[in-house]
Amino acid sequence: MSIERLSTGIPALDEMLAGGIPRGFTVAVTGEPGTGKTILCIHFIAQGIRDGDKCIYVTTEESRESIITQASQFGFDFSRAISEGKLVLIDALMGVEDQWTIKSLNIEELVSKIIEAKKTLGYGRARLVIDSLSAFWLDKPAMARRHSYFVKKVLYKWDFTILATSQYAITTSEAFGWGIEHIADGIIRFRRHVKGGTLKRYILIEKMRHTPHSLSMHEIMIEHGKGLVILGPVEERREDIALPKKVMEKIRRASEKAQLELAGDSY
Ligand SMILES: Nc1ncnc2c1ncn2[C@@H]1O[C@H](COP(=O)(O)OP(=O)(O)OP(=O)(O)O)[C@@H](O)[C@H]1O
Ligand SMILES: [Mg+2]
Repeated sequence: MSIERLSTGIPALDEMLAGGIPRGFTVAVTGEPGTGKTILCIHFIAQGIRDGDKCIYVTTEESRESIITQASQFGFDFSRAISEGKLVLIDALMGVEDQWTIKSLNIEELVSKIIEAKKTLGYGRARLVIDSLSAFWLDKPAMARRHSYFVKKVLYKWDFTILATSQYAITTSEAFGWGIEHIADGIIRFRRHVKGGTLKRYILIEKMRHTPHSLSMHEIMIEHGKGLVILGPVEERREDIALPKKVMEKIRRASEKAQLELAGDSY
């Protein structure tokens, strides 16, 4: 049985994904700051606009204007897509408050706003970006898994294929809930590494159900006028790319604490 796949907007990445992301999947996009998560999301939405999909982009850390500017640097006209009714950009109180603002980082409010946007865009195949989903549990990492499950379950019937970003930073690894990775149908992980005094970025598909995907880490570049470019597979030593041991230990402890909190939670 052949599976319908959505192009990511980056042909070389589609190839790594055996054609693209299966329709209806929820994919976690994770990685350190500045590694390319938002830029991948922008490509995914730009491709959706081209394919005639209903597109929704939720931005929690950047303003709508910032997303529009970033998209325009890679040749995508998001303002036009918005005025043509192909895209709804939702923000979390980053600028002027209007219909497409969520007033708090509350998961129920997020989901009902997304459904409102989908109803406005109309019936049909849809793409959703939540950038970032981890913002919704910053103050309560233990809720990561439950919140992600809620989002996935409620939005499933609305014909969305979802990219949800999730951050971790070396200093705030507690804020990184390991929730979304487990409920996600796929995980695309970004990495960064300074080599010979230069910042290098990488992408790795860690999980994609129903997909004979690439297992190789690929070096990427973010190019002005073009966006995310896949340079090719790399053979790095694990130690070069892995998070430092101290950080892994911190994440492990945070995750244990989260499990304990969840065990005593009746939400
Ligand atoms: N026009 C451009 N030309 C070249 N590089 C760019 C351009 N715009 C952005 N970049 C690069 O992309 C980086 C931002 O990538 P992106 O916004 O996708 O990061 P991110 O993974 O979403 O980070 P965060 O977790 O902080 O949101 C910038 O720091 C810069 O290095
Ligand atoms: Mg970002």
